[in-house]
Amino acid sequence: MKIFLDTANIKEISQYAYIIDGVTTNPTLMAQEKTGYQIRDHITEIAKIVHGPISVEAMSQTAPEIIIEAEELAAISPNVVVKIPMNEAGLQAAKVLSDRGVKTNITLIFSANQAYLAAKAGATYASIFVGRLDDIGHDGIQVVSDSMEIFRQHKLETELITASVRHPLHVINAAKAGSHVITIPPKVLSLMFRHNLTDVGLKKFSDDWAQLAKKQGTGI
Ligand code: E4P
Repeated sequence: MKIFLDTANIKEISQYAYIIDGVTTNPTLMAQEKTGYQIRDHITEIAKIVHGPISVEAMSQTAPEIIIEAEELAAISPNVVVKIPMNEAGLQAAKVLSDRGVKTNITLIFSANQAYLAAKAGATYASIFVGRLDDIGHDGIQVVSDSMEIFRQHKLETELITASVRHPLHVINAAKAGSHVITIPPKVLSLMFRHNLTDVGLKKFSDDWAQLAKKQGTGI
């Protein structure tokens, strides 16, 4: 399972660049960044740090407008993947863009049927928002699992992204469900590194090493 970082923050992207395969942004994440420069410059900056896919959302409403905006976004960097909303206009645009070789990520997917349609439209990626489903009492990971079963059984080439990740257990469960990609917020990624027993074990090793150093020095 590939890891994308779910942020538009340059500092966070730089911090985790060594372990991530790509980045996803959305209008909300972009709005949190007070960069003072244009979207184009922001994406160019991200592309200098990450060499994998960078999802950027197209905000137009109609299919022809989405196509124009998507081609403009895709021209910024070969790494750009255009995020397109899961609706009829979005899928019409995705089909045309896919035929023209523009990479797409259908966003705001909440059911296996929506994921299936995104794949039929030739999307490069389909993003299932598991956290937002869990928030309203549904089972987000079950939608990932059902969609993966459909993709595998029908040999669909679209890669599934588990998105709207809230906690490290989502990561484990997405991996077990076979998700191709998970996009993780930096806060959740930072939690994945940690375990109390690791901290306790490190402290013990460090203390014992200090004792040894007192006796005979720490040279190898
Ligand atoms: C995915 O690409 C989205 O940016 C993201 O995962 C949305 O997550 P949220 O539900 O925490 O806003």
